[in-house]
Amino acid sequence: MTIHIGAKPGEIAETVLMPGDPYRAKWAAEKFLKNPMCINEVRGMLGFTGTWNGNRVTIHGSGMGMPSLSIYANELISDYGAQTLIRIGSCGAMQPQVKLRDVILAMTSTTLSTPSRGIMRELNFAPCADWSLLHAAFKAAEAKGTPTHVGGIYSSDVFYDERPDLNEQMTRHGILGVEMEAAELYTLAARHNRRALAVLTVSDHLVTGEALPSEDRERSFGDMVEIALHAAFD
Ligand code: HPA
Repeated sequence: MTIHIGAKPGEIAETVLMPGDPYRAKWAAEKFLKNPMCINEVRGMLGFTGTWNGNRVTIHGSGMGMPSLSIYANELISDYGAQTLIRIGSCGAMQPQVKLRDVILAMTSTTLSTPSRGIMRELNFAPCADWSLLHAAFKAAEAKGTPTHVGGIYSSDVFYDERPDLNEQMTRHGILGVEMEAAELYTLAARHNRRALAVLTVSDHLVTGEALPSEDRERSFGDMVEIALHAAFD
């Protein structure tokens, strides 16, 4: 047990998928894992461990934003020995060629501020994905026929953004989409020599103003879970 995770030693797999929403963790575990067992419910942050194609996997919520993800990823890595951490989440598209429901595999993540700023200080560290995971996820997405983009994303600290100029700069510099967690996940993975990737589904569009109807989100989310599982184990 840690401060935020109630799982007993050994109850968390080496591979952890991390959606922001704890109820998405429950949904994905019940849909994709064999014999899913709830291993955490502290503060309502649900985690489940089961198997997929014979491989042990945990699906655990991260909460929204980098400070929340940082708590769970730190404890999963340092206390439970997680080796491979894959964020599965939604993002807002920042380029016209990126469409609703497309998948973005985040090669790098630009950020203004993360819980790791304290140790990086003036250094502009470049958080990046694990290549083997990125490569495997791309192959899995291609095999499924899911329209997929690979490139840089922006991990923001705010959903209700009062700095539209920052988004404009991101779009101008080719950033594919915006979410709120990946940069810290990549930074922690680098610090602890673990593998990390963010697989994101486009749920809304900052350029066109479109948003995915809620009934569509589940199907798109399922594709993303399968891509993440193939990336981890293929
Ligand atoms: N901004 C930040 N995070 C997000 C967004 C967004 O537009 N969409 C999904 N996650």
